[in-house]
Amino acid sequence: MAEAVAANPPKPDYGLDAPVIVKRQFSRGGWFAGTGLVLFLINHNQYPNTSARLLAVLGFIGIAFWAVGAFMIWSSRVAKLELRDRLLDMLQLRGDEKTLDVGCGRGLMVIGAAKRLKSGKATGIDIWNPADLSGNSADACKQNAKIEGVSDRVRIETGDARRLVYPAGNYDVVISTLMIHNLPDEGDREQAVREMWRVLKPGGRLLIHDIFRTGEYARTLRALGAMDITLSGLSFLWCVPSRSLLARKS
Ligand SMILES: C[S@@+](CC[C@H](N)C(=O)[O-])C[C@H]1O[C@@H](n2cnc3c(N)ncnc32)[C@H](O)[C@@H]1O
Repeated sequence: MAEAVAANPPKPDYGLDAPVIVKRQFSRGGWFAGTGLVLFLINHNQYPNTSARLLAVLGFIGIAFWAVGAFMIWSSRVAKLELRDRLLDMLQLRGDEKTLDVGCGRGLMVIGAAKRLKSGKATGIDIWNPADLSGNSADACKQNAKIEGVSDRVRIETGDARRLVYPAGNYDVVISTLMIHNLPDEGDREQAVREMWRVLKPGGRLLIHDIFRTGEYARTLRALGAMDITLSGLSFLWCVPSRSLLARKS
């Protein structure tokens, strides 16, 4: 038994983003392709050309849905791991920092940061919404930390980005990936960014990666007095544009 575990050590599972949307892509693809096939089978003797064209059009739409679903799975399972490494490279951690990952999900960034810390500590907070990430829970995150061998450096807590319970100036680095866009209300998004800024120490850095609204977050940070803001170019890892934003608190 012990030998089997050594041969196949458990692997961390950082989940699938937006699992409901991914499922929808596959079921819509199935509907289009299936409807095309059924119509073709019923009509091809009487209307061979028309039913073949209809099958081609509906089949193409179905395949397009499947392709988007497959792309989303690849983004979560493959591209996101590469993105994590690139984001953490940008931070060039010394190893003694206190980091906070807001909306940590199953721990991709908080654990990634902890692996680069020596004396530092990495905290992750989340409300564990299963619609945003498959199998989302504090236990899943803690289990990943255990598998990655960083449980001693990681603290996982339940908490809302809009009301961080930590004192002002508490963290050297605050990270948030693919979280803020989940807040539909602009005021809530602004509040979340304000909270992340508040808990940063002077000289601390805030790193946000998100789809859609990074320009909005940069405006909030400028209004808070952030001077040193870097916005990356667009990337298309989630079929929608995303950007990274790095800001230093003076
Ligand atoms: C797409 S997942 C990304 C998780 C993780 N950051 C990653 O990159 O793998 C978005 C996460 O944001 C969390 N979330 C949504 N609203 C939140 C809020 N108000 N406060 C804290 N976390 C929130 C969700 O529960 C989910 O875990």
